[in-house]
Amino acid sequence: MKNIQQIAVLTSGGDAPGMNACIRAVVRTGLFNGLKVWGIRRGYQGMIENDFIPMDSSSVSNIIQRGGTILKTARSKEFMTPEGRKRAYENLRSRNINAIVAIGGDGTFTGARVFMNEYPDIDFIGLPGTIDNDLSGTDFTIGFDTAINTVIDAVDKIRDTAASHDRLFFIEVMGRDSGMIALHSGIGVGAEAILIPETKTYVDQLIHQLERGWLRNKSSCIIIVAEGDDTGGAQALADVVKQRFTQYDTRVSILGHIQRGGSPTCNDRMLGTRLGYEAVEALVRGKSGVMVGIVNNQVVYTPFEHAIRDEGKMNMQLIRMAEILAM
Ligand code: F6P
Repeated sequence: MKNIQQIAVLTSGGDAPGMNACIRAVVRTGLFNGLKVWGIRRGYQGMIENDFIPMDSSSVSNIIQRGGTILKTARSKEFMTPEGRKRAYENLRSRNINAIVAIGGDGTFTGARVFMNEYPDIDFIGLPGTIDNDLSGTDFTIGFDTAINTVIDAVDKIRDTAASHDRLFFIEVMGRDSGMIALHSGIGVGAEAILIPETKTYVDQLIHQLERGWLRNKSSCIIIVAEGDDTGGAQALADVVKQRFTQYDTRVSILGHIQRGGSPTCNDRMLGTRLGYEAVEALVRGKSGVMVGIVNNQVVYTPFEHAIRDEGKMNMQLIRMAEILAM
């Protein structure tokens, strides 16, 4: 077993509420285990640019309730080059840092895997931090619960005005490649339709459904559209539907980055904290090259090569249930 003395924690890719709770847990668990702990600002880019800050217990005080990430984040193109990774490695070696906790998504773990192949003397543990909840090896990712609650808060408000004006609303939620946010929030708000990248959207079918609703005096409707839906998103879809079904006054609302911010829910604080703690425990026990996740309330370690975006994670039963309940 390697003798780890210094570790660093970073956040990478899109920020997600609960990342700060996770950083806090990594730092304090590291200190408890007698490790020196560093924070790396702006993810892998900061590793390349030597942007390291020493962390102590008070540097993570009063952050558990804050959204975003105190370490900042980036999607580093330079880390995809051998030269960039070499500079990052040299910065780690110059401080004798021999283990990293990387909080992020698919791209974060791909970067970690390539880096570990080149520099096997650096241990890596990944933690799932993305609002998209699209990774295998964990039931939920840090930030997802807050994001879906932000969406339902916004859509409930839109429902009030939609009902008052008898309008049809197309509401776009995040998820370039994943319909998880759309599906869960859509069920939560009782949407009339939920359109996601994992299934083909048939506009004829949607219009038929709107017609049926209209005939039984449904005066307003909410359609949730994932950003990555094959129709091209809420605006593109609304433009097509408006041409063919003119009964409703139609509006489009794109929720955008409000879904990534805000104070994390208790579930996300809990998940971030638990995973941060388990990451350091895993490193100390000699584990490396894995993402730590929670499946059925049990800690699970998934090798980086399998901790990738998982389209099969989408529960088709939920899609069917949502369709039945929207009728
Ligand atoms: O990965 C999280 C996510 O919010 C996706 O849902 C979204 O498509 C993407 O990030 C947006 O990224 P950016 O903030 O770089 O535009």
